[in-house]
Amino acid sequence: MPTPPSTASAQLILDGTSYELPIIVGSEGERSIDIRNLFNTTGYTVLDNGFKNSAACTSTITYVDGERGVLRYCGYAIEDLAEHCSFVEVAYLLLHNKLPNQQELDDFYSLLGEFALLHEDMIHFFDHFPAAAAPMSILSVMVNSLVNFYPEMSDNPRENLDTTACRLISKIRTIAAFSYKMSIGEPLVYPRHDLSYCGNFLNMMFDRPVRPYTVQPEMERALNKLLILHADHEQNCSTSAVRLVGSSGGDLYSSISAGINALAGPLHGGANEAVIRMLEAIHADNNDYMKYVNKAKDKNDPFRLSGFGHRIYRTYDPRGTIIRETCDEILRILDVQDPLLEIAKDLEEIVLNDEHFARRNLYPNVDFYSGIIYRALGIPTTMFTVMFALGRLPGWIAQWKEMHGDKEIKIYRPRQLYTGSPARAFVPMEERT
Ligand code: CMC
Repeated sequence: MPTPPSTASAQLILDGTSYELPIIVGSEGERSIDIRNLFNTTGYTVLDNGFKNSAACTSTITYVDGERGVLRYCGYAIEDLAEHCSFVEVAYLLLHNKLPNQQELDDFYSLLGEFALLHEDMIHFFDHFPAAAAPMSILSVMVNSLVNFYPEMSDNPRENLDTTACRLISKIRTIAAFSYKMSIGEPLVYPRHDLSYCGNFLNMMFDRPVRPYTVQPEMERALNKLLILHADHEQNCSTSAVRLVGSSGGDLYSSISAGINALAGPLHGGANEAVIRMLEAIHADNNDYMKYVNKAKDKNDPFRLSGFGHRIYRTYDPRGTIIRETCDEILRILDVQDPLLEIAKDLEEIVLNDEHFARRNLYPNVDFYSGIIYRALGIPTTMFTVMFALGRLPGWIAQWKEMHGDKEIKIYRPRQLYTGSPARAFVPMEERT
């Protein structure tokens, strides 16, 4: 995207010399000091661990206001999208920066249907993973391998991007469901043309020759909502990984595969699984919340309350609000009594009323209640982060696409501040102590 015009400048004085740095203003009034020429003009770099202060790019896709708890995709409020749209509609929105009309949506659906099968040779890949293989590593391998079976992306990345995007969005769901079926030793269930995106996924996961599965509309709606809420979140860790690999000229499949690996970590998407493990541990400890709360406060203990905190939000994560409501609703509709829901609510109450956490602006994030919904849908804990990846995929692709259309983008290559040894004389082996 072209950089928005500067409206003011910042003055930087280094070694007695004054430099004017342009200030760029985003479309929501966010201000950014433009340091793109800083090194060339001053010889200085900036040190910014974890990129807490650095905007890596301009983007028109997602807007987050962490102070007010606002999240919008392409200008549309997340609350409206979650209430009124299908996940496929939102995927289209992210990829094309516009809501589809009926014809565009129908065409998009039929392409997704067309691409839902997985090359049969790829099914044999699943045979060779150990039974306990981590589903996110399987997903990453399978997605990375797609380029060998559907190489059009390497031949002409720009021209074939929309087709590849559909292929990927459709096939990732088949890969996820197949890997689950293989892990439990059940026959694969193939995608059907008469089911929706989410309905198809649930059917591929849970249909069995001995007990045919009927997709419950309430479950389909809940899953749809969850996927929408996960669909994009600007320059988070996994999206940055996707952009980073893409910036070197890496193809879409390998970039997405990198995103999947970044998402798997427990500080990022892996938190949804970690939350359930933590709530189960609290349950097994006779609801001894304070043990976990005190561990989280202890500076010498690496333990953190999974599902709390966020780099950007200083208030309740708007996705968390919707997920909490959906959680109550779906458990009521399905008549599921999950003791973990009560534990989660009690823990939330304790954290929100504790001064230590309040000072650090720690609120439940998107991952805190999502796992309880997945459990109610019958999805096993080990698959939770795969569900996050399914949701996040359109966002990753949209960000990759945006980057490739951005003339100002360079290969991602941060600098460092070297703090190692100064130059020293080489020591031959016989003189080393
Ligand atoms: N439990 C206890 N203390 C916490 C937590 C937590 N979950 N999160 C942050 N803090 C404390 C942290 O110890 C630090 O305290 P102090 O200033 O005394 O050192 C302070 O809050 C700031 O933390 P930080 O690590 O500098 O913040 P960050 O922006 O680098 O980290 C985070 C953000 C999401 C990695 C972190 O909040 C965290 O580890 N949360 C738990 C994992 C989690 O739920 N991740 C999902 C994030 S949302 C979805 C996604 O992006 O995937």
